[in-house]
Amino acid sequence: MTTSTVSSALAGLTAEFGEPGSRFVFGCDYNPEQWDRSVWEEDVRLMVEAGITLVAINIFGWAQIEPRPGEFEFTALDEIIELLHQAGIGVNLGTGTASPPPWLSSRHPEILPMSQDGLRAWPGGRQAYCPSSPVFRAAAERLATEVASRYGAHPAVQLWHVSNELGCHNALCYCDVSAAAFREWLQKRYGTLQTLNDAWGTTFWSQRYGAWEEILPPRRTLSSGNPAQALDFSRFSSDEVLECYRVEERVLRRLSDVPVTTNFMVTSHIRTQDYWQWTPFVDLVANDHYLDHRLPVPHQELSFAADATRGLAEGEPWLLMEQSTGAVNWQPRNIAKQPGELLRNTFAHVARGADGICFFQWRASAQGTEKFHSALLPHAGTDSHKWREVLELSGALRSVREVLGTEVVADVAVIFSWEAWWATDLDSHPSEEVRYLEQVHAVYRALWEAGITVDMVAPGSDLAGYRMVVVPSLYLVRDAEAKVVSDYVAAGGAAVVTFFSGVVNEDDRVRLGGYPGAFAELLGVRTDEFFPLPHDEVVTLDSGATATLWTERIENTTSRTVAAFLDGPLPGEPAVTVNRFGAGSAWYIATALDPEHLRDVLERAADAAGVTTAETAPGVESVLRRGPDADYLFFINHTHLPHTRAITGHELITDRPVTSLEIPAGAVRVVRTRRTEN
Ligand code: GLA
Repeated sequence: MTTSTVSSALAGLTAEFGEPGSRFVFGCDYNPEQWDRSVWEEDVRLMVEAGITLVAINIFGWAQIEPRPGEFEFTALDEIIELLHQAGIGVNLGTGTASPPPWLSSRHPEILPMSQDGLRAWPGGRQAYCPSSPVFRAAAERLATEVASRYGAHPAVQLWHVSNELGCHNALCYCDVSAAAFREWLQKRYGTLQTLNDAWGTTFWSQRYGAWEEILPPRRTLSSGNPAQALDFSRFSSDEVLECYRVEERVLRRLSDVPVTTNFMVTSHIRTQDYWQWTPFVDLVANDHYLDHRLPVPHQELSFAADATRGLAEGEPWLLMEQSTGAVNWQPRNIAKQPGELLRNTFAHVARGADGICFFQWRASAQGTEKFHSALLPHAGTDSHKWREVLELSGALRSVREVLGTEVVADVAVIFSWEAWWATDLDSHPSEEVRYLEQVHAVYRALWEAGITVDMVAPGSDLAGYRMVVVPSLYLVRDAEAKVVSDYVAAGGAAVVTFFSGVVNEDDRVRLGGYPGAFAELLGVRTDEFFPLPHDEVVTLDSGATATLWTERIENTTSRTVAAFLDGPLPGEPAVTVNRFGAGSAWYIATALDPEHLRDVLERAADAAGVTTAETAPGVESVLRRGPDADYLFFINHTHLPHTRAITGHELITDRPVTSLEIPAGAVRVVRTRRTEN
């Protein structure tokens, strides 16, 4: 994906409705097959009323459009596309392959995915297929070919939506077909068995392989399995799901010029896809995001996901393909949105680079497992709070359309790695409580509270433009990736690295000679032993901080101690250090600091590095998007109190000039000001 392709793909989506880039994509999933034809016209009329510009259809259409193998029935789809087209609404056309119909799995039960214990999943839900299944892939390719041939040049079709949330339920399959595909993948990766044995450390526990056929996916074992095998299986599984996408993508590119994408799941509870590997194959980055009420502060995770999605888009505008207007149906308790929360959630995505906002789904289902999932049009109909909120949201997006195409300003990068996530969360580690995403989130939340906007970047990314880089718990890192951080600091940059980083290479092999391995020289520390803390133990530091989870015995080789432990297993030993390295400096946080003090250390490092921080008030999110002629400051007040800010400019949502801006409790404001910097 090149950046120009992304912009033109998004501009293409909006071109129908005015000048390119002049209107927000405002869209939704629509499942007309769940409704009588009589409802469709009303739906389209209400979509126009709500200002909907893009509608995703045929996402789960397979059983309708191919009711029997090889027999295609497109009348209903033709009709709905035509209705939308006549109304001036663009179509985000699903290839329809998201869920195989019963005829496929009953004829070919071998496509059903298998768990680690060898249990086959039954059909009856969705996505019940093994990603490596040649039978499934051939059936999906045939359907995509039919759909692309029929609609590839239809003027209503503005975007291809390949399948749906690929790998959401079925990413990890342990069947024999997967086993054979895994072996093939390993042969490509390692070439020889000797190399594989070496990479996997199979001298341990008599695991040496003498033939490729002996290798299996990491099925359920009695004891812990081989961690390098598990890590490779995660990589393989991500690649296999990506290949399912690519099978269809190739068809679409052959038969149509319309941009191609699929909906990613950059979210807290799904980690099976390494999306850094996916982005070369999508024309625009699209993400699905739902607030996760199992997390401490769900809206901060929303901001994290939005920043990570922008990272995948390399800073270019991206599309929020799905969010909800209210409760979902798949959490233990499905919490409804408070008044104003829909607006806040949406504008947090926009502030962080989304130039299109879409929803799951248009009309709340009356049947099926998602019938209690919120929608733009609720069960109650248009005489409802939800519908009025949707109209208000549509108007608010219209009022800020001049931000389209502008760039989010961030001078701090946070390194984020799906591979490190997989490796960190394997078993048999010093503490099962060190969970990768939790540590990334802890750092992210501290920066969010400090009013520091960050770019999430892949390990090995160019860091030159940033004033500071943060490396949270990057347990697995390649030598070359760690060197990028060291070179950046040597050239004058600032880095903050947190505990359990740099420990292993890409084979999950420990770097010998002292932790934190790949970062030891940069940080000027040498750790000879980890001392993880018992659950709930709290230690104190001489800085006044408390910490949990982790301590380690550090020797300052070239660094100096910023804070030391007062108690716990290592009283008097360093807990936070800083090191001059070349022309820059590198901080090491060797424990899980309490949120306030984590923020404190990050702020000190950021201050020293000259990072611009937004003037913050607790709970008021503030992000800057920069255009060629103006700056746009987004304020999202997550608190129950009004907040006032001295700022001169024009507020776009209320459309009035301001010198002192009041942001009412729970409200969103966007101020156009003069550009502050070139
Ligand atoms: C995902 C899927 C949708 C729907 C929503 C419900 O995002 O893509 O089909 O199931 O979840 O939240």
